[in-house]
Amino acid sequence: MTQDYQRYQSEDFEVWKILFERQFPNIQTHACSEFKESLQRIGFQSNRIPDFNEVNGLLMTSTGWQIEVVPAIVPIRDFFIMLSKKHFPSTTWLRSMQQLDYLSEPDMFHDCFGHMPMLINSDYCLFLDKLAEIGMRYIDQEEYLELLGRLYWFSIEFGLVKENGIPKILGAGLISSFGEALQSVDPSKATHIPFNLETILKTSYINSSMQHCYFELDSLSSLYQTTNLVEDQMLGLIQSGFEVEVSGMMM
Ligand SMILES: [Fe+2]
Repeated sequence: MTQDYQRYQSEDFEVWKILFERQFPNIQTHACSEFKESLQRIGFQSNRIPDFNEVNGLLMTSTGWQIEVVPAIVPIRDFFIMLSKKHFPSTTWLRSMQQLDYLSEPDMFHDCFGHMPMLINSDYCLFLDKLAEIGMRYIDQEEYLELLGRLYWFSIEFGLVKENGIPKILGAGLISSFGEALQSVDPSKATHIPFNLETILKTSYINSSMQHCYFELDSLSSLYQTTNLVEDQMLGLIQSGFEVEVSGMMM
């Protein structure tokens, strides 16, 4: 599959512009510094839907990652296989004007605005590389993939990073959500928990509504350190008889 840029209609450009302009001020205030720097480097603008050929050119010369077009969210097994090839899945369709505030599954605003900028960040990509390498060792064991998926979910999708003691947004699910971005960093509305691998592995994720709590990393670079521990902790949990609720999909 490829992105058919000619297929985009004026409503698609309008939707992209509204979503981008609505979220950009929140990002400037609440996103982590790595995301803001990456968004500037990748050069996305409100008046232009990203062209994947251009994005892939930029990624190839920075981290070597590439965008792989998919029709919708992918099964977790396929997701890990893509990551192991340094391919990041992305849809090419945009929500309609009537769906600006809620979608049941991620569209390309989530994939492009939330994830693609960070694919030029080497710490982000090192984490994905290592997570995929571990995932491939357990590629036919869905319980292990689910546990690795939780680490991904609570960091790459919904993680926060502390900057000078203040929670900042890292996760793409928050970066791309107008409502949840603001909720996630407001201590009066959200529960913030120090990033703890054991707790994360035991926490099943919610993909049908906003999260109840958010895990806070000390820094983006500290995320990589969890990959040195996750395999032993997964094995320990499974061997102890811990029951893993398998969702099977990854957004
Ligand atoms: Fe995502």
